[in-house]
Amino acid sequence: MTGPGPFARVTPGILEELRAACGPDWVLVTAEDREPYGSDETEDLWFDPEVVVRPRTTEEVSAILRVAHARRVPVTPRAGGTGLSGGALPVRGGIVLSVDRMDSILEIDRENLVAVVEPGVITQTLQEAVEAAGLYYPPDPASRGSCTLGGNVAENAGGPRAAKYGVTKDWILGLEAVLPDGSVVRPGGKLLKNRTGYSLVQVLVGSEGTLAVVTRIWLKLIPLPRFRRCLLAPFPDLEGAAAGVARIYGAGLLPAALEFMERDAIRLAAEHLRTPVPGSDADALLLLEIDGNHEASVEADLGTAGEVLLAAGATDCLLPESPSKQADLWKVRRAIGEAVKKTSVYKEEDTVVPRAALPALVAGVKGICARAGVRVVCYGHAGDGNIHCNVLRMDLDEAAWNERLPGVVEEIFRLTVSLGGMISGEHGIGWTQRRYLPLALPPAEIAVMRALKRAFDPTGILNPDKMLPEE
Ligand code: LAC
Ligand code: ZN
Repeated sequence: MTGPGPFARVTPGILEELRAACGPDWVLVTAEDREPYGSDETEDLWFDPEVVVRPRTTEEVSAILRVAHARRVPVTPRAGGTGLSGGALPVRGGIVLSVDRMDSILEIDRENLVAVVEPGVITQTLQEAVEAAGLYYPPDPASRGSCTLGGNVAENAGGPRAAKYGVTKDWILGLEAVLPDGSVVRPGGKLLKNRTGYSLVQVLVGSEGTLAVVTRIWLKLIPLPRFRRCLLAPFPDLEGAAAGVARIYGAGLLPAALEFMERDAIRLAAEHLRTPVPGSDADALLLLEIDGNHEASVEADLGTAGEVLLAAGATDCLLPESPSKQADLWKVRRAIGEAVKKTSVYKEEDTVVPRAALPALVAGVKGICARAGVRVVCYGHAGDGNIHCNVLRMDLDEAAWNERLPGVVEEIFRLTVSLGGMISGEHGIGWTQRRYLPLALPPAEIAVMRALKRAFDPTGILNPDKMLPEE
């Protein structure tokens, strides 16, 4: 394999140094202990790490990286392991550095509206803690019950509410991170503005564990909106639903979330959870949520949204009455990814285009897959123009799948780029999409990214073979 290196194997001597760095109990060496750290949620990929370390403190992370740096051992940082582009896969073996034990909420500062957390805190745990204090941390990846804030930072995670509130990067005020040589940086802090030098915070957010290991995070909070209501609009065709999205914004509405699901997506999730979903016999659905502090204005906006979508061709406008019915609907929506994974071998493309190009994207992806004779299930964050296109193998034989898939993926990405889009909206490039990066980015941009990588990680030990394509 080409790429950074040559790397050293993990020797008994290196294991001793790692035990000294973070304590012998937290250095996992048996095949059984290592096994769960060889995969994340990306397809069915698995790579064997030579050793797994589970530090508790920044000092321990630093000591581990000093060993790896001195010995030239690759290190794959890992948080919740829910990633969808293979960012946490130890593709070169070496050390998996898991931050799962660094899981404390250190502070919820109600005067500055800032939370300070360690990277292993589960996103939903932080959300519930701040909501109990009347505060809000909006970014809500579908996996928020099991993903962590460290992983969200690494991937610049999104989720449904990004439609109104933006993605993780919009909520990160400061970071503590350990560079591959073990040195510690602390850019930003409890600051809502900071124009002091380049923003290392924003360089690190979305860097997919290739530049540094994040050990502490300063998050922006806002007051919790007091009301939220959602509606579900079935459409007789995919393009009609996709076209309804721009109409919502054209009407001056700013929904908290605006999700698109084609029939197969919602059906798979409903079957997976054994929950009936209203409207799931329609070809496509839009799920829209309005939030705010005044019930009357939330209701008024919801009414307007319903009218706009009916005028755009929706056959109905379903309003789940109770908060628990709304929660059920979101549960089904959040389960789509899991349900797809359970259905078949698949490959997911995280397309993102300008919102107005959604109808062309959806129609184009369906056409590409129909011509190639493969099934595709599309759903995602329509308010952001971000559609997850899942190509499913189903009962296609393996040879035909392997032969057709690369062409299908490339055609989907070429279409996406031709519509002014990019090849990942929120899942990242990681291991599975790196070879496609040159389809989306010009050589000059990739060259700057390589230079940035070298500046942070001159020996290339940190998460090698991720994000940037092979040279
Ligand atoms: C979702 C994940 C897959 O939107 O991003 O469900
Ligand atoms: Zn998503």
